[in-house]
Amino acid sequence: MRVTITQLREMKQRGERIAMLTAYDFPFSKIIDEAGVDIILVGDSLGNVVLGYENTLPVTMDEMLHHTRAVVRGTQRALVVFDMPFLSYQVSLEDAIRNAGRAIKETGCHAVKLEGSGDYVVKIVSTFVRMGIPVMAHLGLTPQSVHQLGGFKVQGRALQQARQMIDDALQLQAAGAFSIVLECVPTKLARIITERLEIPTIGIGAGKYCDGQVLVLHDMFNISMRTPPRFVKVYADIRKYMYNGTKKFIQEIKTGAFPTEEHSFSIPDTVIRRLQKNGNKRKKK
Ligand code: KIV
Repeated sequence: MRVTITQLREMKQRGERIAMLTAYDFPFSKIIDEAGVDIILVGDSLGNVVLGYENTLPVTMDEMLHHTRAVVRGTQRALVVFDMPFLSYQVSLEDAIRNAGRAIKETGCHAVKLEGSGDYVVKIVSTFVRMGIPVMAHLGLTPQSVHQLGGFKVQGRALQQARQMIDDALQLQAAGAFSIVLECVPTKLARIITERLEIPTIGIGAGKYCDGQVLVLHDMFNISMRTPPRFVKVYADIRKYMYNGTKKFIQEIKTGAFPTEEHSFSIPDTVIRRLQKNGNKRKKK
């Protein structure tokens, strides 16, 4: 059975923590789905993590659609969330509706996520929800505004900023968001927001009091090719395994140790003899 947004709210009520991870392709989403993750976010972190861009800003709708389709194919249980890329919802409400509609129709995902707050974003959230599209909001460090924020920094440390974030969270909840990601938010502020909301908060660098936690999958396995931010915990060093495996492969090719009989296919000797005979005959002619 697929996880639903209703179940996520019930998990908050029961005090059961929500586990969310990003994924961008079929095999990785299949592995984490089978392991039992509750939500899979096809993050626009796709840009820097998988496509080699400097940040998330260049990511297009087409790239997100392509990768989300693969992720959905890999899942049976997790709720799959499509991260709306930069400029897919900022230009106009009409554009936002068209792009969120495409995400749902063309990928089979179950919800969308968008960054930010304020009247315009709140309007988008309430419009999507009225259309039947569940929305996950995203406050704190919102990477699509990295230049406006002056870098990847903790948000909400000053009183005014902290108050604003609490208000923003309440407004997004009132607009119908089913959950809010809090990124790089001080632990105690994230706790206040979490306690004031009825919908679950999902933290990333926001401490232990959020209702759930999310990590970028490639950070967690040390394959994101960047120095992981402080809030990342590396659960398995897959990069080391891949590097060492590749080194061994190269060495075995060079020495002829691979492939062996075990990795090769046979053919009856009679066939080979006939081939060799025919070959000789042809040469004689
Ligand atoms: O794009 C992403 O991976 C995200 C998470 C960091 C929440 O937005």
